Amino acid sequence: MILPITAYGDPVLRKVAEDIEADYPNLQELIDNMFETMYNASGVGLAAPQIGLSIRIFLVDSKQILKDKDYEEFKGEEGICQEFINARVVEKTGEKWTYNEGCLSIPNISEDVDREQTVTIRYVDRNFVEKEETYSGFTARVILHEYDHIQGVLFTDYIGALRKRMLQRKLDKITKGDVKAKYRMKFPLKKKSR
Ligand code: NI
Repeated sequence: MILPITAYGDPVLRKVAEDIEADYPNLQELIDNMFETMYNASGVGLAAPQIGLSIRIFLVDSKQILKDKDYEEFKGEEGICQEFINARVVEKTGEKWTYNEGCLSIPNISEDVDREQTVTIRYVDRNFVEKEETYSGFTARVILHEYDHIQGVLFTDYIGALRKRMLQRKLDKITKGDVKAKYRMKFPLKKKSR
């Protein structure tokens, strides 16, 4: 089932999300629905707050997109397709690099963001098997963006004050639902039409 994606301005995107237990209701179905929602919106990542749940789940699929010729700068990188539950970043290393990021909660806006090369992260998978892995390159980029979501952080938090001021009107419009997205969204300040 495709779920509506929460838009910029919703307080759920600003909360530090909570760990879940293995018996979280309908967990497998929830993860499946999140994957479906992510693919429907052509996303490479999706975090639970983006579907209105303040819990520590996010997904990353960097596998498909890295096959695309537009991603030649990441040649040789295989990518991943998996869920991260109750994740904690253990370490971020390597020189920061700049990449133009977007976000399904902030449609039609993209900005350059600096992030570390490599991330080591501890998490459990959908069967609650504990893992600790190190990722780099494009995959680390997506993981760090999605991890931010479960920490209540958005990529627009990293852009300079002047640039942010220039963007503010666009961001306010998104919050009010005055934006065109190719997928269904939930807008915090959208007036209900009768
Ligand atoms: Ni995002």
